[in-house]
Amino acid sequence: MSKVLIFNGSPRKKGNTVVLINEFTKALTESDVEFEIFNLNEMNIKPCQHCNWCVNNNALSCVQKDDMNDLYPKLLEAEKIVLASPVFWFNISAQLKLFIDRLYALQGEKEYAFTKKKFAYILVYGANDPESSGVFNAIGSLKDMIKYMNNEIVGTVHGTAHKIGDAAKNLKLLEEVYELGKKFVS
Ligand SMILES: Cc1cc2nc3c(=O)[nH]c(=O)nc-3n(C[C@H](O)[C@H](O)[C@H](O)COP(=O)(O)O)c2cc1C
Repeated sequence: MSKVLIFNGSPRKKGNTVVLINEFTKALTESDVEFEIFNLNEMNIKPCQHCNWCVNNNALSCVQKDDMNDLYPKLLEAEKIVLASPVFWFNISAQLKLFIDRLYALQGEKEYAFTKKKFAYILVYGANDPESSGVFNAIGSLKDMIKYMNNEIVGTVHGTAHKIGDAAKNLKLLEEVYELGKKFVS
């Protein structure tokens, strides 16, 4: 199995998303599965300019020179990808959205070249009630994106944690994310 790629959309280095990613990767390590974590907030990822250079040249890369160009080959090679994000303003974080927009470059001539990948999602929010958190908007956006590119969602975990340290106290959420890790690599 190729390395599992994990994209962290939270800006907080010791935030709740990181705690959940660590719990997820515990399951991967126990199964001897390699992974790599990308902290999107620390990367140079510019917004898609919709110049269509990628499409017109069937480039599978972008004319903008930034960190996405190192990611494209890794993304094409990967079998399994994890997207983790806090809910910001009733959707995924801007850091994750910028990254997703840039997947536009991976279209290929007839159908998406970035296809047939397995995805897992980890989402965390401050609200006590998922209905009012906006997490279902985030899940809806991610689901549409995956379907459009003919990728597959293996599982989604979401739950409440607001302040730094909250996720470590949410035992149900930790258990769910660990189980998702196990399922993801089984
Ligand atoms: C800009 C911003 C917007 C937020 N919007 C929401 C929201 O729409 N719904 C919600 O339940 N929590 C919202 N939150 C709370 C975060 O989702 C919550 O604190 C989460 O634990 C942060 O994850 P992190 O520690 O991994 O960064 C928001 C926080 C920030 C900073």
